[in-house]
Amino acid sequence: MRSLHDHLLTRRAAMSGLAAGIGLTLSASSLAADSAALITRSIPRTGERLPVIGLGTNAYSVSAPEELAARREVLQKFPALGAKVVDTARAYGESEVVIGNLVASLGIRDQLFLATKTSARGDIPPGDGELEAALRRLQADRLDLLQIHNFHAIDQLFPRLREWKQMGKVRYIGVTTSTDNQYPQMVEALNTLPVDFIQVDYSLDNRGAAEKILPLAQDKGVGVLVNMPLGGRRGSLMSRLADKPLPPWSGELGVTSWAQLLLKYAVSHPAVTVAIPGTTKVKHLEDNQLAARGELPNAAQRRRMEQYWETV
Ligand SMILES: NC(=O)c1ccc[n+]([C@@H]2O[C@H](COP(=O)([O-])OP(=O)(O)OC[C@H]3O[C@@H](n4cnc5c(N)ncnc54)[C@H](OP(=O)(O)O)[C@@H]3O)[C@@H](O)[C@H]2O)c1
Repeated sequence: MRSLHDHLLTRRAAMSGLAAGIGLTLSASSLAADSAALITRSIPRTGERLPVIGLGTNAYSVSAPEELAARREVLQKFPALGAKVVDTARAYGESEVVIGNLVASLGIRDQLFLATKTSARGDIPPGDGELEAALRRLQADRLDLLQIHNFHAIDQLFPRLREWKQMGKVRYIGVTTSTDNQYPQMVEALNTLPVDFIQVDYSLDNRGAAEKILPLAQDKGVGVLVNMPLGGRRGSLMSRLADKPLPPWSGELGVTSWAQLLLKYAVSHPAVTVAIPGTTKVKHLEDNQLAARGELPNAAQRRRMEQYWETV
């Protein structure tokens, strides 16, 4: 598989007239300088641009030193590769706390777009406690995005989210789901609430959101975070694909792994702002970040990907 390091070497060598692969050492700052090559999308409400591949962290609730070290390595590399959006949630055990500690010790808060969610199980009364807990756990003065998780307590919480946004404690507000049975609620939210973002499950293997939700979000000028773009942490999609050869035309799309192919499919939908693949490994982070470089599939290439998928 072509690595992000190879990609950047080739690109930089081409730019400087050097042959690729002659032992150049890339520092974090030179990788960051390459972020000009990143594919970005505008947040519809404000025009603020975000790199199209972020990071999901529902597996960041760890305490063993070697597991913490692995998460630290991913979070350290993430902004060095030009990426920004980190999504977490109160519901992911101690993930917020782990991220808060690592982001503070790495000193990278200003380089990230930090998104979290209100509690999904009603363990906090829907007062200011939700906001205070998120800020405390993430060691942040304000949040970039606060989302209502799976519509839990939305009637009580959404007015509070609007207040917190007006107070400048939260920059953007939204709602999330990852199940089809909540799509009617998502459609209602898009039609009735001033959300800045929605978050929804969408992948080549799971295209239901493209029927109503993604077009409606685009129509309403609402940003979209895509969760489970690789088929989900508990699913077996990535392991099912591991032994399968890539389609013969994958070179045309500039992809060298199934993860890149799936991510390029997800973020090439015109309604999508950012996909947030979950990973705990630097090698997967680098692979996923390659999907934010080069070209995205056009409408005809997307159709070919969908047709091919029926045969996989
Ligand atoms: N309702 C909601 O609001 C909701 C629901 C679900 C998810 N989410 C959010 O969406 C994020 C993404 O969802 P997800 O993590 O469940 O699913 P996902 O991103 O579709 O898949 C994650 C799985 O793919 C593996 N993976 C990542 N990059 C890979 C690569 N390049 N090659 C091979 N395998 C790779 C990961 O393993 P490794 O760790 O080994 O890399 C992990 O097992 C979550 O972390 C969370 O932030 C939100």
